[in-house]
Amino acid sequence: MWIMSQIKTLRGGRLTTLRERYWIACLLSMLPLPLAWLFRIFGSDKSQTGQHAYGGVYAELFRPYRYARLKILEIGVLSGASMLGWRAYFPSGTIIGCDIEDKSAFAMGRIRLHIVDQSSSADLARLRAAEGAFEIIVDDGSHVNAHQIFTFFEMFGSLKSGGLYIIEDVQTSYWPVGFGGAEVQDPAFAATCMGTFLELARYINHAEFFRQDNMNAAYLRIAQDITEIQFRHNLIIIRKGDNRQPSNFKDYVIEKFDWHPA
Ligand SMILES: C[S@@+](CC[C@H](N)C(=O)[O-])C[C@H]1O[C@@H](n2cnc3c(N)ncnc32)[C@H](O)[C@@H]1O
Repeated sequence: MWIMSQIKTLRGGRLTTLRERYWIACLLSMLPLPLAWLFRIFGSDKSQTGQHAYGGVYAELFRPYRYARLKILEIGVLSGASMLGWRAYFPSGTIIGCDIEDKSAFAMGRIRLHIVDQSSSADLARLRAAEGAFEIIVDDGSHVNAHQIFTFFEMFGSLKSGGLYIIEDVQTSYWPVGFGGAEVQDPAFAATCMGTFLELARYINHAEFFRQDNMNAAYLRIAQDITEIQFRHNLIIIRKGDNRQPSNFKDYVIEKFDWHPA
């Protein structure tokens, strides 16, 4: 009963101290509560009517990690709501939050905070040096298309094999104002975050390319470590793993049809 009344007051913002909120998250981590509930309890827009419905998607993706001793990085802290949601969902997890603003007040227990501008190579290098590798990386920062793409290429090397990299709120790819997006019919859409990952998806089967001279060298390199790219509503999900399997082209085409690439 006490815990339910505390949760109600949490949602009303009346349970104010950060320490109280942190300890509620620790207590809730002992219960197998759905992630969507936890986001709602702490007030993250990741699972709110009229905002996003990421909690259900994340529960599907993160179920195998729930009780692991993992490290999750989230870029974008705001009021600390998702930090507490992650803390309550991953009882053995360490949560690393980064924000362009100083959010160090939210650092306690297994939540660590860094000041990082996700568009700064030097800041991201400092973060990598301080924290090492992660099982999960979530970009919920500026939502500026160029930042989403830049941060992925800077941070993907710090994702462990088998890990997940998630870019939230990619609706900004489709918005022609404010975040560097473009209307979907506009050729400029190709340079947005969605456009970039749609293109990168073509490289998953890089072993089938007969010629590599007219292809993007950075995409060719990174696609060797991507086993899956999923597009969900307003989310891009990239799974890291060994994607170096060879083509069976030789058996099926060269030997049967005696056809050779130019
Ligand atoms: C959508 S809010 C994060 C919400 C939080 N993850 C949650 O679910 O409760 C976005 C945050 O990104 C931060 N931000 C904006 N531009 C940034 C940048 N260039 N680098 C890092 N963080 C940035 C903002 O200060 C803000 O706190």
